[in-house]
Amino acid sequence: MTIWKPDLESRAGPKYRRIIEAITDDIASGALPPGTRLPPHRILAYELNISPHTTSRAYAHCVARGMLQGQIGRGTFVRMVQPESALASPGNLERPVEGPIDFSKNLPFPGVGANQLSQTLKELGRSSDLEAYLDYQVGHSHGHQLDAGVSWLARTGIRASRDDVVLTCGAQHGILSALMATARPGDLLLTEELTYAPVSLMARHLGLQLATVIMDDKGICPEALNEVCQKQRPKVLYITPTIQTPTTITLDTKRRAEIAEIVLQHNLILIEDDVYGPLRSTPMLPIAELVPERTIYISSTSKCLAPGLRTAFLKAPDLIARGLRSAVALSCWMPPPLMAEITCRWITDGTADLLTRAQRTEANKRQSMAGDILADATLKSDPDGFHIWLSLPVQWSPSAFCARASQKGVQLTAGETFSPDEICRTKEVRISLSHEPSRTRVKNGLYILSKLLKVSDQMEPLVI
Ligand SMILES: Cc1ncc(COP(=O)(O)O)c(C=O)c1O
Repeated sequence: MTIWKPDLESRAGPKYRRIIEAITDDIASGALPPGTRLPPHRILAYELNISPHTTSRAYAHCVARGMLQGQIGRGTFVRMVQPESALASPGNLERPVEGPIDFSKNLPFPGVGANQLSQTLKELGRSSDLEAYLDYQVGHSHGHQLDAGVSWLARTGIRASRDDVVLTCGAQHGILSALMATARPGDLLLTEELTYAPVSLMARHLGLQLATVIMDDKGICPEALNEVCQKQRPKVLYITPTIQTPTTITLDTKRRAEIAEIVLQHNLILIEDDVYGPLRSTPMLPIAELVPERTIYISSTSKCLAPGLRTAFLKAPDLIARGLRSAVALSCWMPPPLMAEITCRWITDGTADLLTRAQRTEANKRQSMAGDILADATLKSDPDGFHIWLSLPVQWSPSAFCARASQKGVQLTAGETFSPDEICRTKEVRISLSHEPSRTRVKNGLYILSKLLKVSDQMEPLVI
């Protein structure tokens, strides 16, 4: 029988580190599938012609990080992850909830990940180096957490090295840190015409000017962006190119290339918020890969794993990455290392991919249900996304429709909530399908909305 042998020649650094790296890579590539028994550390040491102390240290480190499991009397194994069916069974999701049906929040589907958390906490409790998670880590995170960040970013096609990665307490903190690192009071920030609402509040708090760029059916308009850049010389552009909040639009390859070109031409800093990127079954190459020297790329684990982990990974060019680290230190010293550790273990051991798939599968189911129930309506959606952008018949203003829906027990978000501009001509509302635990309640809520859309022709709308 051939035994597993790590490739140490192609790696640099101390030998025990090279073994850890090889184990990490081989688990990630599938060369070491879950449950594989590793050679006893003495035999591996003999094969590699190194000291058993070195192999034992590498194995101990991987056990502490949750990648391997030691079983007394049996040996050391690649950790088994839970079967996918245990993650998002309808049983977990069909939790009874009372009160209004809440379509107003774009949170991930609940009930996913609790089993994994319980297991990971138990494993962490057995670690010998817990103290490290109680210390300050200003300016630099644990190296293996940065490596996990590199691996997470690779899922959406971002090529990064440890030095490019910055950890933040979620994407929201990432956006704020990015603005703090790149813009000064009075600088002009551009956003899409409709955008993630907290960004305009951040601009206000930081004393930035804000202007918006019009969108069409394919997303932010390059011609309009170019024109604003020529006339107003903005400093920073913030966009969400994938499953946009709130329109659900994903920029196509051509538009991404056009935006990248304009960023370069006008020396803009691009903040690319890709919180929904990893959810897509067919990932789009981020704009950050086209203009890495001018982009801060933000990838959070909130939508795919759990928002309570408060972990996002940013990639930025060297000078900006330094500014980002200072902004993070100024705002919170560092993301809590223990939370980052849970996230990183999940990325490394495959749990993150399972949870992401569970989120996507539930999104597919609910989007398909909504597509059936709202078949006569005009809407935009993405099968892998959490929300729908519903166009209203002419009689309804978004606020009037939301008020009437609320009277009927359904809460939505009016389109103007996403507009930083004072005058907004949006005729849409956002329906978030992901916050409600029960599919039955989602179905009921959608039926209420479909009825409301039909009666709107015959009744006096409620004007707010
Ligand atoms: C577009 C967008 N960016 C950022 C965030 C914040 O994400 P996080 O929980 O990682 O801070 C959200 C959350 O709703 C979002 O929709």
